Formats: sequence, structure tokens, C-alpha cells
Amino acid sequence: MEKIEIIKPDDWHVHFRDGDLLKAVVPETTRHFARAIVMPNLTPPILNEGDAIKYRKQIEEAIPRKDHFFPLMTLYLTESTNKIDLKNAYENGHVFAAKLYPAGATTNSDSGVKDLNKIMSVLETMSEIGMPLLIHGESTEKNVDIFDREKEFIDKTLDYICKRLPELRITLEHITTKEATLYVNEGKQNLVATITPHHLALNRNDIFVGGIKPHFYCLPILKREIHKNALIKVATSDENSKFFLGTDTAPHLIGDKETACGCAGIFNSSYALPILAQIFDDNRSIKNLEKFVSINGAVHYQIPQNKSKITLNKQLKPITFRKSLKVNRSEVIIFKPNFPVFWKNQVQN
Ligand code: DOR
Ligand code: ZN
Repeated sequence: MEKIEIIKPDDWHVHFRDGDLLKAVVPETTRHFARAIVMPNLTPPILNEGDAIKYRKQIEEAIPRKDHFFPLMTLYLTESTNKIDLKNAYENGHVFAAKLYPAGATTNSDSGVKDLNKIMSVLETMSEIGMPLLIHGESTEKNVDIFDREKEFIDKTLDYICKRLPELRITLEHITTKEATLYVNEGKQNLVATITPHHLALNRNDIFVGGIKPHFYCLPILKREIHKNALIKVATSDENSKFFLGTDTAPHLIGDKETACGCAGIFNSSYALPILAQIFDDNRSIKNLEKFVSINGAVHYQIPQNKSKITLNKQLKPITFRKSLKVNRSEVIIFKPNFPVFWKNQVQN
């Protein structure tokens, strides 16, 4: 049996939600990951230091005693965000980063930013204090095709931010296109990107061919095979230092996915590591998995690498996926790609 031991991974992009859903999903992350950046798009969103402290407490109460896990909190930027409050929250150590949602781009983004100029002085403050900016990089122009929204955002908005604020530390989140891989690779050194397991595993045919698959619907939407291959190339490359894992695990109850107007989001934390190990192995790059899941993110965010290790074993037979996670009387479907996965995290349940 083949096995690898790697530094315990971090997840640089999770949605924990709140209430009972939070209680159900938090252990699916804390079993596998040492730290995670927690998204602030609740209703209402996490807007200030007080909100972040309260939300962090809710998360901590849901962490099983056996797990050592550290949530890294974020603030949701709006056109009314106060830069002094933001600076204090960051310098007090209660928030780790701030998230830019273009208004209307995705789930609970209505309070996001419509006019970038309204937050430029907040971004300047972030640049001065070294606070990381996390970006949902999609244009919200009505006439831009959904498959072109990431490229349009890079050309019209991200490039402008990078040029105006060269010192600002930026993570372009859950990238989905070849253009994004090129822009980040060629861009300034403090511009990095996260990639999800599902964007490495699937292309847009997987949503539509043979019947519509609501559990493969997420934002940014899956793209063509050439884009998937460009993501795999940068993630698995020997030279990769700018791309790392953000699962974007985004649970929605089954009834909110399997309906006439279903929510965007894929819940993938339970098997993210085995799936990634399989993809890296299939691309003869298993030796580069550790950089992608455990090293590059910590380097970018200037925090120490984790001390503990995890072991992944390659089984002779494909692993069996649990179908769903129960939440009260409902459930959340667990992401399963359409290829066999032979790798297993030793702590897998
Ligand atoms: O698919 C997504 N789901 N993309 C996002 O950007 C948000 C997320 C969610 O919160 O459900
Ligand atoms: Zn997300």
C-alpha cells in the first residue's frame, strides 16, 4: 500500500453558516484541517469586530474536543465599512482578512460592493496595515455571460486594484479559468489564488450532460475542460508557490439545491483531501500535494506552518463516500466526483 505523510492541511476558504447547519458541518472541516478562513456571508453578514467575535465563539463551541482547530475570521466589506473599525479589528487580532463580494455576484452578496470607488480608501488602509484582501472575482454586469464573468472581472476590476495598490495582499478566490492562472502567475508577487477541489475535478459538461446536476452547481460556475486542465497544471506544478487550497465548501440543505431555483454551492469538506490526492496522483504529482494544501497558503499569509502531520493511504479499492450529512430532518449532499478515489485520509470516517 502506498502512503504519504504531509503537514496537516489548512483550508483557506470555508462556509460554516450558522445554527444547526454550522454544528453539523464544522466537524467535517476540523477533522481534516488545522485552520480555515471562514467566510462572512451570513444573513446578516459579519460586518464588524463584534460580529466576528460572536461568530467565532459559535464555531468554537461546535469543534469536537479531539480536534485542534483554529478559525480565522473575516469581515464582509460594504460601501459603509469604516476603515478605523476595520483596522482596529485586524490589529486586535479578531479578524484575519476582509472579503470583497461584488454586490449580487453570489449567495448573500446583496450587501456587497456596487461601486469600487466607495471602498478605495478602505483598501488603502488594508494595504498600509498588511491586511489580506479576499476577492470573489466575478463581474456582475447583467450583459456579461456567466461563463465570462471571471475574465471580465480580472480585466476590468482586479487589474485596476492591483495597479492602484501594488502593496495590497490579494487572494483571488476559487479561480476557474486559464486566464486567471495566467494573470496570477504573471502578476505581482503578493497576488495569489485559491482553487477548489471541484474545479479541479469537473468541467461544465458535468453539470448538464445526461440531465441537470444541481449538486455540481456553484459560483463561479464550472468552466470548459481546457480551463480545468489549466487549474490542474498550476496546482500540481513543481514551481507552484502562488496557488493553494480553498475548498469553498458551501453547504445548502438538499431542498434548497433540488428546486426550481437552486442555490449555488458544493459541500466538499468531507473528502476534499482524498479527492485532491487522487487528482495529484493521476497527474504524477503526489509529491506536490503538500505545497498546495499545507504550505503555500501559510507562506502567503505569513503564519507558521502547522506542526502536526496527517497520513493518506492509497487503497486497493476505491473508497466509499457517505452520501449526505444529516441536519435535523434534512440533509446536505456530500460532494463525490465522477471518478474513483483510492486515497483515504487516516482520520476519514
Ligand atoms: O458556490 C458558491 N457558494 N459560491 C460562492 O461564492 C458562495 C457560496 C455560498 O455561500 O453558498
Ligand atoms: Zn465561497
